[in-house]
Amino acid sequence: MFTSSSEILKWANSRNIAVAAFNVYNFEGVKAVVEGAEQEGVPVIIQIHPASLERGSKPLISMALEAARLSTVSISIHLDHIDRIDSINEGIDAGITSFMPDGSAYDYQENIEFTRSCAEKIIGIGGFVEGELGRLSGTEDSVTISDYQALLTDPLLVDDYVSKTKINALAICIGNVHGKYESEPKLDFQRLYKIRETIQLPLVMHGASGLSNEMISQCVLAGISKFNVNTELRQAYIFGLSEAVNRDITDLLSIMNLCVSKMKEIVVARIREYSLH
Ligand code: 13P
Repeated sequence: MFTSSSEILKWANSRNIAVAAFNVYNFEGVKAVVEGAEQEGVPVIIQIHPASLERGSKPLISMALEAARLSTVSISIHLDHIDRIDSINEGIDAGITSFMPDGSAYDYQENIEFTRSCAEKIIGIGGFVEGELGRLSGTEDSVTISDYQALLTDPLLVDDYVSKTKINALAICIGNVHGKYESEPKLDFQRLYKIRETIQLPLVMHGASGLSNEMISQCVLAGISKFNVNTELRQAYIFGLSEAVNRDITDLLSIMNLCVSKMKEIVVARIREYSLH
């Protein structure tokens, strides 16, 4: 069933676990996430990134919403990294209630202003708002933020940021990276503990692809309620395609089903990892 991100995070919070939020690009992605969540019997969040939204537009949103409505588990649909206020309006018109206005490219005051003006619209329809304080490095859908442009979340600013923007969840930057980790991930847990001491809001970790089980566990215990996964699902899709080529599979439905099953393996593995604490 289609539900709100707030309800899903409340559900996770009451069990001291985290929820998985998967980025999708097409029907195969949606199918893999829904089937994986149904197999595990847990709620899940389906996310659409701006590049995916630009390509798939309203038909992609409609498909994700309908898949959520028809599902036996609770699913919310979330627009990820929205950098234009118009996308909030378009999302609301298309039936979306969960958004991440991303003001992280701006300086602190501008980030507050952008996030707050988006939040006003979203809260106006009773929706859910995720904001980001700091800036993540790495690459997502051809957008690359280099290490020197990245900024870790300052625990001293968290309270001010949350109260001024009215967000419902905070995406934190503690060394997590979008895309592939070029070296062993190093997360600043002391920073995470300080952020947690300051606010009780659900905390979100972007760039969850490639984190070890141990790190995930430590993150959940330190208060992360939502993990965003994109790279691993994309890789699984591509593995499916290359396996199809290597095995000389030429039937299109068999190729698509192979890709779905590869992605579903990741969906199930991550859901289990985030639930075991
Ligand atoms: P990864 O691509 O590193 O999994 O990050 C996904 C993400 O943070 C989506 O917002």
